[in-house]
Amino acid sequence: MTAPAADTLTAALARRIAVEGPITVAAYMAEALGHPRLGYYMKQDPLGAGGDFTTAPEISQAFGELIGLWCADTWQRLGAPPLVRLVELGPGRGTLMADAVRAASVLPVFRQAIRIHLVETSPALRARQRATLADLDVTWHDSLDEVPDGPALMVANEFFDALPVRQIQRTPHGWFERLVDREETPDGAEPRLRFVLEAFGSAGASLVPPALRDAPPGSVVEVSPASLAIARTLGARLAAQGGAALVIDYGYAGPAVGDTLQAVRRHAYAPVLESPGDADLTAHVDFTALAAAAREGGADVFGPVPQGILLTRLGIVQRTDVLRRGATRTQATALDTALERLIGANQMGTLFKALCLAAPGLGAPAGFEG
Ligand SMILES: C[S@@+](CC[C@H](N)C(=O)[O-])C[C@H]1O[C@@H](n2cnc3c(N)ncnc32)[C@H](O)[C@@H]1O
Repeated sequence: MTAPAADTLTAALARRIAVEGPITVAAYMAEALGHPRLGYYMKQDPLGAGGDFTTAPEISQAFGELIGLWCADTWQRLGAPPLVRLVELGPGRGTLMADAVRAASVLPVFRQAIRIHLVETSPALRARQRATLADLDVTWHDSLDEVPDGPALMVANEFFDALPVRQIQRTPHGWFERLVDREETPDGAEPRLRFVLEAFGSAGASLVPPALRDAPPGSVVEVSPASLAIARTLGARLAAQGGAALVIDYGYAGPAVGDTLQAVRRHAYAPVLESPGDADLTAHVDFTALAAAAREGGADVFGPVPQGILLTRLGIVQRTDVLRRGATRTQATALDTALERLIGANQMGTLFKALCLAAPGLGAPAGFEG
């Protein structure tokens, strides 16, 4: 009698590969993060000091507050519509939204106009958001397409880096897509996964941008069809119904080569294929490709602007000074550390960037001028 197969995502993926053959890196990433039962985001809240990683809203309340004020200001630039959808994609613990709404309440007419919509696929994080935002009227959605019509202010912080990427690798014989295969292991041994290249370079090669076709052997190009589809949808929605979207993430101005796929567990890097479902998987965002997709949808695009510059222009230094006034010495030190983490050039200030997608004709919103 053979032992029952282990109920791990590695085992499930190995079974799938045995039937279908090797899968794309994007398919692997989608399963590792979003498998309904064993996917990383589906089964747990991974944020914070006790989790695997920390994000800007969890570092300082000033981050969400300034975004709330940015939304209030952008709403006025939109002509102060009596109803506006305040939409967050991938809201984590709900911290950014809580801080944003509290800060936006300084403009009561804006506070009355907003309807809060969260696009979140993780049941574990939805439960966390429900607790954080218990005092607010919130509607949850599985995808952006479900958010009702109307002008919208949308925020996506560290959302696009969680969306699957395909990887295509240059070899001396041309471009080939990277795939995930199962390793041959003795009967009864734990299954293991490994990277391989597609047998015939046809599927992936067509995804390589013309500017990168002559990159040297060993180069890797990443493309995120899921991100581009959402950016196009955002652009089309903003063009048709008005509003603006603020996208903040770590990334680069493409086209560029580079293998940026990484796994993080307990605040440290882990091998990408070692523990699907138990480590966060991300890839850097190609802001140029995102901007082009949003423009294709019909939106105007501003930025990207480094996070440090955007937050400084929006007044994070002054806001931190105000918070410091009532603080103990220990709290003041923590506030200074948080400020440096968010805007410091060697920390999140430069690697993280902000892109604004806007309804045509709105003009550059606060922080994106110049
Ligand atoms: C890295 S966390 C960022 C959380 C939050 N924005 C923050 O800054 O703390 C990614 C978030 O996106 C959500 N997410 C990942 N893939 C998603 C998808 N395809 N649709 C909607 N939400 C998704 C995750 O559940 C999580 O809330």
